[in-house]
Amino acid sequence: MSTTAVPTSSLLHQWSLSHAAWDGLLRAAERLRGPAGTEPLLTGKRVAMLLLNPSLRTRLSMEAACQDLGAHLLSAEPGSSWNFEWRSDVRMDGAAAEHLEEALGVLTGMSDAVALRAFAGLHDAAEDAADPVLELAARACPRPLLNLESAMDHPHQALADALVLRDHFGGSPALHESAPRRRVVLSWAPHVKPLPMAVPQAALGAFLREGHDVVLAHPPGFELDARVLTRVEALGAERGGTLETTHDRDAALDGAHVVYAKSWGARAHYGDVDAGATAVRAQPSWRVSEADLARGDDAVFMHCLPVRRGVVVDADVLRGRRSLVQQQAAARLPVQKATLCHALGVDP
Ligand code: CP
Repeated sequence: MSTTAVPTSSLLHQWSLSHAAWDGLLRAAERLRGPAGTEPLLTGKRVAMLLLNPSLRTRLSMEAACQDLGAHLLSAEPGSSWNFEWRSDVRMDGAAAEHLEEALGVLTGMSDAVALRAFAGLHDAAEDAADPVLELAARACPRPLLNLESAMDHPHQALADALVLRDHFGGSPALHESAPRRRVVLSWAPHVKPLPMAVPQAALGAFLREGHDVVLAHPPGFELDARVLTRVEALGAERGGTLETTHDRDAALDGAHVVYAKSWGARAHYGDVDAGATAVRAQPSWRVSEADLARGDDAVFMHCLPVRRGVVVDADVLRGRRSLVQQQAAARLPVQKATLCHALGVDP
C-alpha cells in the first residue's frame, strides 16, 4: 500500500478510490449497461492484459469490454508467454525466463493501458500484505494500470458486487437516506486448499462503503489483514457502514439479508500448503446450505465464482432463486467498461 507513480486514472486498490470516484465508476457502469456500452468510445486504444494466474470472468469481461467499446486487447500469460520473475536482484536461474520489469516495459510500449492479475504467493504473509507484484508494476508502468486481482484486493469484483447489491436493494444506503441498511454477512467457507484474502477483503470494502451493517464470520485463526480491515472499516464508517466480527456463524446468519461465502487460508499455516489444506477442510459445517439461508431475512446468496459445489456451498443454493452469483458475474462486464473508460480518459 505504498505510494506509486502510476497515472491517477489507474485502479490499484478499491480503498484508494475516493467516495466520489467509487460512485462515479458505479454510475458509469450503470450507463454502460445501456446503449453507451456498445459505442466505439475506445476506438484506436490498445490495452495490454497480463494474467499471471488463471481466470474466466476477468479474462472474458476484459475481452468483451474491449470488443464492445472498440479497443484492441493484447493478452499474455505464462504458458503462452514466458514464466516471470518479480523479485528484485535475484539470479534468474530457475523457471522464470523474463523479469516483470522488462515485460511491463514491453507492454507499456505497445499499449495505452495495462491490466494485471497477480495473486498472493501464499508463502509469506508479510510479503503478500505488501502486494509486491502490483507495487512493482505500479513503479514500472507509466501507463494507467488496472488491478485484475492482486494479493490483497480485487477492486473490479468489489465494484461488481456493489452494483449487484444496489440492483437487489434498489439503491445504496450510502447515497439515499431512505434506503435501509442491510445485514450483509461475509461467511468464511471450507475449501480443499488455502486461498488468498483478496476477494473477502474486496467484498468487505464494497459492503462497508455501500453503507451496510456488515458481519464478518470466520472460525478462530482465519483473521484477514488487519491493516486492510482498519482501512475499509474507516472508509465505510464515513458512509454509515458498520463492521462486526464473530466466530459464531449461526448468530451471524440470523436475520441476514445477504450471505456472501468465501474461503481463505488460516494465518497460522501461511506457507504450509498441507497444514493449510487440512485447516480449511476441517470446518465442513461452514458450507452454506438452504437451511443456512433460511436463518436469514429473505436472504440472498453471493459468491464471486469460481465455486466448488458441495464444499463451499450446496448445489441447490447455487441453482436456487436466492442465488445472485450469475448477476455478480454479469456485472463484471459493465464495471470493466467503466474502469477502462476511466483509465483511458473517456467519459461514458
Ligand atoms: N471472480 C473472478 O475474478 O473470476 P475469475 O477468477 O474467473 O476471473
